[in-house]
Amino acid sequence: MKIIAGNWKMNGTRSGLSEMQTALAGVNTENRVILCVPFTFIDGTTGPAAIGAQDVSEHDHGAFTGQVSATMLAEAGAKYVIVGHSERRMYNGDTNEIVRHKAEMALSAGITPIICVGETAEERDAGKTLEIIESGVRESVPMGNGDVIVAYEPRWAIGAGITPSNDDIATAHKMIADILESMGRGDTPILYGASVKGANAAEIMSIPHVDGVLVGGASLKSDDFIPIITAIK
Ligand code: PGA
Repeated sequence: MKIIAGNWKMNGTRSGLSEMQTALAGVNTENRVILCVPFTFIDGTTGPAAIGAQDVSEHDHGAFTGQVSATMLAEAGAKYVIVGHSERRMYNGDTNEIVRHKAEMALSAGITPIICVGETAEERDAGKTLEIIESGVRESVPMGNGDVIVAYEPRWAIGAGITPSNDDIATAHKMIADILESMGRGDTPILYGASVKGANAAEIMSIPHVDGVLVGGASLKSDDFIPIITAIK
């Protein structure tokens, strides 16, 4: 069983989500399918794909205009929330510490956080890939109980149509698995994200310690998303 999580970012419509759920109902798979959609689409929708959000407030409640709390997300029916996506880190200043607080809020509301880590092109070029991944995992993943998911997303490969080599993905995922083990979170699923599509999904998901994928662009249309879900049993 793999986890196939879509990240719609700021795209789509509520009716498009219903259409996707209808299309997914015809798919025979043992994989766990998640769609992380804009806040306004969550609203109690149900279907074969579990629904997630793309961000959550690090605060419980209060004077934080424009933010949405984990309790509110849970009430609306979200089962998952992406925290620390590279676009949040880039455009909204989310640091590892903020990401950890967001993940803790999600856990306290019974929502599974999908915690993203990954290096920028500059960090990769400076030879800092593993260092950034290590600090990302150690500082963004909460200690303690409650299931989390970690996603390794090399930031330079997101939406770029390119992926790291299989060896590089394997090295990153093995390191993440070892760190999670040392944190008492050895059974945490680790997703790969960035430029996943039907044509490369099976190969990527057969790399050791790749427990699924986080998919951006190719999760928007069922014709692109379903081949990823069915790429591996
Ligand atoms: P992509 O995005 O699949 O379009 O590269 C992945 C992501 O941002 O999670």
